[in-house]
Order: sequence, then structure tokens, then C-alpha cells
Amino acid sequence: MAATQVTGTPGEETAAQAAQTEGGTAPAEVDSAQEGHDRPLEAGEAVEEPQSFPVTVIVRRYDPEVDDEPRWVDYDVQMFATERILDALHRIKWEQDPSLAFRRSCAHGVCGSDAMRINGKNRLACKALVKDFDTSKPIYVEAIKGLPLEKDLIVNMEPFFDSFREIQPFLQASSKPEKERHQTIAQRERFDDTTKCILCAACTTSCPVFWTDGQYFGPAAIVNAHRFIFDSRDEASQVRLDILNDREGVWRCRTTFNCTDACPRGIQVTKAIAEVKQAMMTGVKL
Ligand code: SF4
Ligand code: FES
Repeated sequence: MAATQVTGTPGEETAAQAAQTEGGTAPAEVDSAQEGHDRPLEAGEAVEEPQSFPVTVIVRRYDPEVDDEPRWVDYDVQMFATERILDALHRIKWEQDPSLAFRRSCAHGVCGSDAMRINGKNRLACKALVKDFDTSKPIYVEAIKGLPLEKDLIVNMEPFFDSFREIQPFLQASSKPEKERHQTIAQRERFDDTTKCILCAACTTSCPVFWTDGQYFGPAAIVNAHRFIFDSRDEASQVRLDILNDREGVWRCRTTFNCTDACPRGIQVTKAIAEVKQAMMTGVKL
């Protein structure tokens, strides 16, 4: 199918719209026949075949060898309601344009490699279901913002991982225990939320401070610092607090909550940042 270039500025989804489409409540425009069964089948009742339908996906393409600037290209793909935006990208790449470049690995929300901006909001393409979008309108897909664009939906993640490495994301303890290091349930719970990070960068690249100041450590690095700062077995909490008590550290955070809203793991990112700020002022309370 021929791809056509699109001009004009695509509409970005507001936070309220995103909440509406992501919160499990299907928008009114979505055809209920596309959504599959929402009740148990009666005995003897025939199973209805799921129907595919056309979806327009508009991708912001960029090939550094050809393009001066990124350009929007639209693709019509036949989709089922239960498929993901990642499936749409696969269909485009495998059936229409093999040059489309994007990252993915697990396809199940675990590896964190396919964070992208879909209808103006950072999400994992493998967790973004077609049925949660208003498919009467095009779905816009572009690379996450604030990191150098390499090709199509691929950005250079090195600056992101540099910040992650800088906060020393590993357990540091001087003594070698005879047995395992014990922790109470409450001590483990203290940092449980921040252990869930998959380093997808959805939080950091949704942060307006990071967009304007790429030197800012960003939410993901602070989340991973939090994971060790509040671990009762670790002895380098103060080292990490000193690293983050920097011009480009936690005080850059303006509490916009974009990061919490973007996190596909449901981590309370803004809360974790606030706890690190608090620990800088009053010490670490385990
Ligand atoms: S905190 Fe959430 S959004 Fe940020 S990198 Fe980790 S998993 Fe991704
Ligand atoms: S492909 Fe691994 S998280 Fe989406």
C-alpha cells in the first residue's frame, strides 16, 4: 500500500483524553463490535469471529542519510481490536515498508525497548492496545523526545544510560555476610515500588525539564537511586544523595507528574523523587 506524506501538525492528546482512552473506559466512538465479548457465552451460543478493520497510523519518519527534517508518513493497516500498536508497526514493516526502524524485543512489557510517543503520550507500543484508541482518527506515532534522534522511532539511549550509571545502581556493602542479608517485610516494602523499573525512559523523555536541559539526571535515574537509597542493606545512600544534590539533580524536578503518568509499570515516580528530596533534607528514614 502506498505511503503518502502528510503535512500539518498532528493533534496531540491531552492528559484528560489520554486518561479517558487508557483508563479502561472505551471512548464513545469505538464500535463495540470491535471490542470482542464482554460477557460469558451462553450454552450453545456461537462464537463470533473477531473482525478486522482499517486503522490509519501516521509515523514520524527520519532517515539521516536522506532527510533534512523528520516527516510524517501515513499507512493504512488492517487491525484487530485486541492487537497492539507494536503489531501495527510490524505490519507496516513486514508488508509495506521494510525500511521502517524501531526497537522492540520482548513484546510483552518487560524489556522496555519500545517506548514511543503515541498520540502525544509516552507508552510502550507493545502495551498500547488498538481498542483503547479512537480509530476513527489516525494514530500518531513518533520517537520519544529529548534524546538524539537516530532513525525513525529510534533514539540514542546513551545519555539516558549515562545518568543511570552515574547514580551507582548496584548494592554497596562493606562486609561479606556469612548468610543472606536479612530484611524485614517493612524494610523490603520501603523500596518495592522502585524495583519495578524496566529502564524504558518513558518517564525521563516525558519530562519538560529534561526536554530543555538534557543534563538533568531525569526521573528514571532518580527512581533507580531511590531503589538503593532506601534499601536497608546498602551503605552508599549518602553517596547517591550527594550525586543527586547537584544543579542537574533532584532539585530540577518541577513536580509536573508527566513521569508518573507515563510510567508503564505504574511506579509512583514523582513520589519517589519527593522522597529523595526529603532524604536530602532530613536524612534517610528506613
Ligand atoms: S520509572 Fe517507569 S517510565 Fe521510568 S524508566 Fe522506569 S519503568 Fe520506564
Ligand atoms: S518490546 Fe519489550 S517492553 Fe515492549
